[in-house]
Amino acid sequence: MNHFFNQTYKNKKVLVTGHTGFKGSWLSLLLTLLGAEVVGFSLEPDTEPNLFNILSLEKHLISIIGDIRNKDAIEKVLILHKPDFIFHLAAQPLVRRSYIEPHLTFETNIMGTVNLLEAVRKSNFEGVVINVTSDKCYENSGGTHCFKENDPMGGYDPYSASKGASEIVTAAYRNSFLNPKNYGISHKVTLASARAGNVIGGGDWSEDRLIPDIVRALYNKEEIIIRSPHAVRPWQHVLECVSGYLLLGANIYGNPIEFAEGWNFGSNENTIMTVEEILLKSLELWGSGKYKVIPEKNLKEAAFLRLDISKAKEKLGWQPVYDINQSLEKTISWYKNYYYQQTDMFEFTKSQTEEYVGILLSLMISKIEGLHNV
Ligand SMILES: NC(=O)c1ccc[n+]([C@@H]2O[C@H](COP(=O)([O-])OP(=O)(O)OC[C@H]3O[C@@H](n4cnc5c(N)ncnc54)[C@H](O)[C@@H]3O)[C@@H](O)[C@H]2O)c1
Repeated sequence: MNHFFNQTYKNKKVLVTGHTGFKGSWLSLLLTLLGAEVVGFSLEPDTEPNLFNILSLEKHLISIIGDIRNKDAIEKVLILHKPDFIFHLAAQPLVRRSYIEPHLTFETNIMGTVNLLEAVRKSNFEGVVINVTSDKCYENSGGTHCFKENDPMGGYDPYSASKGASEIVTAAYRNSFLNPKNYGISHKVTLASARAGNVIGGGDWSEDRLIPDIVRALYNKEEIIIRSPHAVRPWQHVLECVSGYLLLGANIYGNPIEFAEGWNFGSNENTIMTVEEILLKSLELWGSGKYKVIPEKNLKEAAFLRLDISKAKEKLGWQPVYDINQSLEKTISWYKNYYYQQTDMFEFTKSQTEEYVGILLSLMISKIEGLHNV
């Protein structure tokens, strides 16, 4: 495990904002397994149950409960803890909630990014900052376009617009204050951003996300309600994008100038499915369950979203590991173990993580060997 990412994270101080959330908990766990000293900055977990508490992550990292909308609070954390890496995940991440609370969404996702980057500037931080945004950051006019990193930013709904804006803010700070051309002259910060899509995996109980909605209903023996059965999405296991963020950070650490830009961490074509297909596969893995379709007329979400991941594949050596069946199997087995077995979920989540990292590492090695043999 430790050889992964060239031991870049061993004994390094890593700040994760959003560490009490779904992705942040997986990222924090993996970082601690890699030997990093993790400092987390977030609100309290806002679902019950939640992965952060299930894994007892507060025992494995320094957990600071604070609000990213408070610029002094995040600046104090940077001054006190002096991290080497920052992964910024703290956000209001739900499209439906963004329609109900647009102000909160913009304030958290845009001003939260501004506050973090101001803190980076003012605290004389030196190191790597990766802003985690979304595949929804791109201007999406429909169709089946596969988004490349240099496509224009946009966003129809408040959540998507907030993530597009967070990207624009990131680019503005990089151009104006943290320009790679001035690295080592006026600053020592590498600022990149990472865009991923629909993520699945154990330990998510967010409202209005497909897998949490399915699992909640199945456990409570209720009928599952879905709104857009024919919506087509790429589905990705959480370890896929989390490993991408870490690989990007490790590459930047070795080369702080070349990688300071936006990166897509999407999935392969074999993960693209409709909501209804995912639901049916989940029911099969669970062993029972019923559903009904109640169409939602007032909520517009992008019908199709796909990321071009050739840049991360070519320049970072990253690649998706699981097809959709494997991702779903890992996900549903996580929840079944949590609900019905007396499983130690820290050990279980750790073993899923180690298994994933082992496969990724062997794929990366065989790719390098393949290149040498050409
Ligand atoms: N889960 C997905 O499918 C997905 C897809 C694309 C992008 N993302 C992005 O990944 C990141 C993490 O998403 P997630 O799925 O883990 O969401 P989550 O809701 O599980 O976690 C969000 C985290 O942000 C923190 N947070 C929210 N508001 C805050 C505030 N005002 N101050 C401090 N912390 C605050 C929460 O406490 C929590 O730790 C987000 O930026 C999200 O937009 C997620």
